[in-house]
Amino acid sequence: MSRIGIFDSGVGGLTVQRAILAALPSADTVYLGDTARVPYGTKSAETVTQYSLRNARVLARREIDLLVVACNTASAVALPALRAELPVPVLGVVEPGARVAAKASRTGRIGVIGTQGTVASGAYQAAILRERPGAEVVARACPLFVPLAEEGWTDPDDEVVRGVVRRYLDPLRDAAIDTLVLGCTHYPLLREAIARALPEVRLVDSADAIAEEVRARIPAVAGRSGVHRFLVTDVPERFLGVAGRFLGRTVESAEHVDV
Ligand code: SIN
Repeated sequence: MSRIGIFDSGVGGLTVQRAILAALPSADTVYLGDTARVPYGTKSAETVTQYSLRNARVLARREIDLLVVACNTASAVALPALRAELPVPVLGVVEPGARVAAKASRTGRIGVIGTQGTVASGAYQAAILRERPGAEVVARACPLFVPLAEEGWTDPDDEVVRGVVRRYLDPLRDAAIDTLVLGCTHYPLLREAIARALPEVRLVDSADAIAEEVRARIPAVAGRSGVHRFLVTDVPERFLGVAGRFLGRTVESAEHVDV
């Protein structure tokens, strides 16, 4: 049976795992959340690459067949280093998300929101332009979305949520984008609030896009439910307290690992 390794800076990558499990329920997974070092989005590309390599080495020892880099920031800056070192295929979320957005847009005016690290890397902007030369890409970092999602402040009627979302997204509305990539693992939890601020805009979740790619590579086994293990680099309690909200199912245990 195929085993998929998935890593993220913390809990947010569980939104990617959720999409993968919906697309491929029979696959086994090992998820590593680098909860001791989250967030990655405010750190340098060099630091994020070092953290990513350490996470990947732990997962490689668990005999994975494929590595999914769920963290957008790590996908944006660390893929070449990961691919050079790992003996298994490595998929990031940037290329699949960019591909879907480039196809979905009617006007070619595409927005990207992500962490400071993801936006500064230019990875989404470059990937969209590769898919659709001539596209106009407007990218914006929305750093406060991560703590909002972690705290569970995602209610679109909440005035704090509405205020933060509008402050970040009004410039994208003014830029008349017709498609927006949710380029951070945490942002799908704010999907409804984002959709209300940009009602005419098609939202692209990189999680769904990469889940399709994983399904194309890993054979499904009818009638089987996968076995899922969770590893964290900080104490498991906080992870276990919020994981269910991100994954959409209960996570009963997580093992502490040093990376
Ligand atoms: C972060 O670690 O800052 C957020 C994760 C992401 O970039 O997707």
